[in-house]
Amino acid sequence: MIMENKPTLANESNRQPQLYIIAAMSENRVIGNQNHLPWHLPDEWKNFKKITDGKPFLMGRTSFEAPDALHSSYRNVVLSSRAASEEKSDVAYVKDIPGALALLSEETEVFVLGGAAVFEQMLPLVQKLYLTIVHAELEGDAYFPVINQNEWELVTSDYHGIDDEHQYSFSMNVYERKMAD
Ligand SMILES: NC(=O)c1ccc[n+]([C@@H]2O[C@H](COP(=O)([O-])OP(=O)(O)OC[C@H]3O[C@@H](n4cnc5c(N)ncnc54)[C@H](OP(=O)(O)O)[C@@H]3O)[C@@H](O)[C@H]2O)c1
Repeated sequence: MIMENKPTLANESNRQPQLYIIAAMSENRVIGNQNHLPWHLPDEWKNFKKITDGKPFLMGRTSFEAPDALHSSYRNVVLSSRAASEEKSDVAYVKDIPGALALLSEETEVFVLGGAAVFEQMLPLVQKLYLTIVHAELEGDAYFPVINQNEWELVTSDYHGIDDEHQYSFSMNVYERKMAD
């Protein structure tokens, strides 16, 4: 089971953007199956696009290359231990998280898009979670890390029911990291 650690990297630099995770997971924390999202929820996509429009994204190479991946029209920073295979104006490959944060240090807000490996590493560093809970128990091979509920406050929750276009109901939740005592 993955447990959350204390934030460290974000404190190493004076200048850092606000870091937000945006993700959707099932009740049993599944976020992906064979490099696909295990659901088709158009209104959840719309919510994702509304929140992240025009913002820079930080993501792992696997998620960036996923067939159903969404890319930022503005800026994509992709984590990969491999040498840069692509350099376009809106895509940069970086070898580690400190390198990514350095590259993004002039931004005000950065959305961490996943996948599982990147969520696990970035969870201790982020200030806010845009986390949709899909109300189903699903099979998958990629999981969202366990959240320590004592460290997070649910600030909004927007429920969406099942309809002709949505096979599962879901709740679009926003959590903020509680201030340390
Ligand atoms: N439901 C959701 O919200 C959501 C969102 C995004 C993704 N997903 C799902 O998540 C799954 C993919 O997750 P994943 O864990 O397999 O892959 P991932 O986190 O997307 O990417 C992993 C890759 O990123 C690179 N990487 C990660 N951490 C790094 C670090 N610290 N330094 C350098 N490189 C690093 C490595 O690339 P190299 O191998 O090139 O070194 C690694 O293999 C898919 O099923 C996808 O559909 C779900």
